[in-house]
Amino acid sequence: MENGKKKRRILIVFGTRPEVIKLAPVIEEFRKRPKTFSIATCFTAQHRQMCEPLLRFFSIPCTHDLNVMIEKQSLMDIATRTMRRLDAVLERDKVDMIVVQGDTASAFAAALTAFYRRIPVAHVEAGLRTHNIWNPYPEEMNRQLISRIAQLHFAPTQRASQALTEEGVAEKSVFVTGNTVIDALYLTLTKLRSGAKKPSARACGSRRLILVTAHRRENFGAGIDEICAALLDLVRRNKNVEIILPVHPNPAVRKPIERALSSQPRITLSPPLEYMDLVAIMKRCSIVLTDSGGLQEEAPALGLPVVVMRDETERPEIVEAGGAILAGPHRNRIVREVERILDSNELYNRMARVRNPFGDGRAAKRIVRITDTWFRSTDSRDMRILRKKIEFHV
Ligand code: UD1
Ligand code: UDP
Repeated sequence: MENGKKKRRILIVFGTRPEVIKLAPVIEEFRKRPKTFSIATCFTAQHRQMCEPLLRFFSIPCTHDLNVMIEKQSLMDIATRTMRRLDAVLERDKVDMIVVQGDTASAFAAALTAFYRRIPVAHVEAGLRTHNIWNPYPEEMNRQLISRIAQLHFAPTQRASQALTEEGVAEKSVFVTGNTVIDALYLTLTKLRSGAKKPSARACGSRRLILVTAHRRENFGAGIDEICAALLDLVRRNKNVEIILPVHPNPAVRKPIERALSSQPRITLSPPLEYMDLVAIMKRCSIVLTDSGGLQEEAPALGLPVVVMRDETERPEIVEAGGAILAGPHRNRIVREVERILDSNELYNRMARVRNPFGDGRAAKRIVRITDTWFRSTDSRDMRILRKKIEFHV
């Protein structure tokens, strides 16, 4: 207790690479208020190898490690192992709120476990929707279900906020904060500028560097094969193009990519890159070609055109603004769109100049301030006033 005020214990749960990146600024911000909050973290370890360097990079201590990851894990493995082990943690560690991020199996399982124990859930990156429960699978259903459970919804954009209220989520519990990935990116750019790592010049010789990532379940099989065929077409048809592809460790992704693209000229396959290296590469490259959610948000913040290798996106803001093009996981469309951007300075510059709609680097500050007010306020008017004062607008 401080000045008669109860200190709130907040448990922040994460399991995968994007969750660590997107929650790192939130954890840092909560830790700046030790008189108000007592912070515990819970790493489900859905991704063990990909997260450990990130935990070190962002100096995130793990209060609890659920150690759920197993080779070729099923969704059922992740969900049931997370729920059982988190429930045991909650038996020992009495928390006032659980914070989850996004739409992974870890996030959904944690939200449901919290609900069973009547612990309020705050959802970071709430309201992203394709409205197609099979695409992305299982993420669209995970995030819709988290929205049914959560008491506080941190929507990155106005559109996400609207999606929630249209589903009947109480307006007073939804706040537009911007996406915390932009906070993480800015933090990392500052570290890069301070000389922790030397970024190379933007061009790699006279070549155009394309950063590629792929890992979505909907693209397993035919989609990955089409993507690999497109990359081979691109380097064969464009002698000035060079590709770097950090390969996701999921065997369903790694094996077909290595089979198709190992030892191909001007295609570099690498293990997953540490975040700072990835950001340094983004600063050097010309185009991002991806099915990742996070990269669709980061690339526009760095003035990079994005070709999205998915048929649908829950981030239509950037497509509508003209900074990204949906090509699906389709060989000919991918090649056509990338070449169109590379061949037209006018199109390239137009895409590169689009204003980033996803955040201003202050999302985590808003989230922590809103959470503080939420605990202290018995009057929904306070929350309305706060919303007017601090929401993110493009
Ligand atoms: C998960 C998320 C997805 C998110 C993605 C980010 C779910 C259902 N999916 O998908 O929403 O976009 O993470 O990357 O939550 N592996 C390792 N080491 C690691 C990480 C993964 O070896 O550090 C391998 C394991 O064999 C594991 C497999 O990758 O079984 C798949 O991991 P999993 O978390 O199930 O699925 P992702 O495709 O990574
Ligand atoms: N990322 C990284 N190293 C890599 C590839 C991606 O650090 O080799 C970062 C990327 O910058 C973004 C996040 O990982 O912030 C995205 O994670 P991923 O694509 O695995 O998941 P998604 O965003 O699709 O859920």
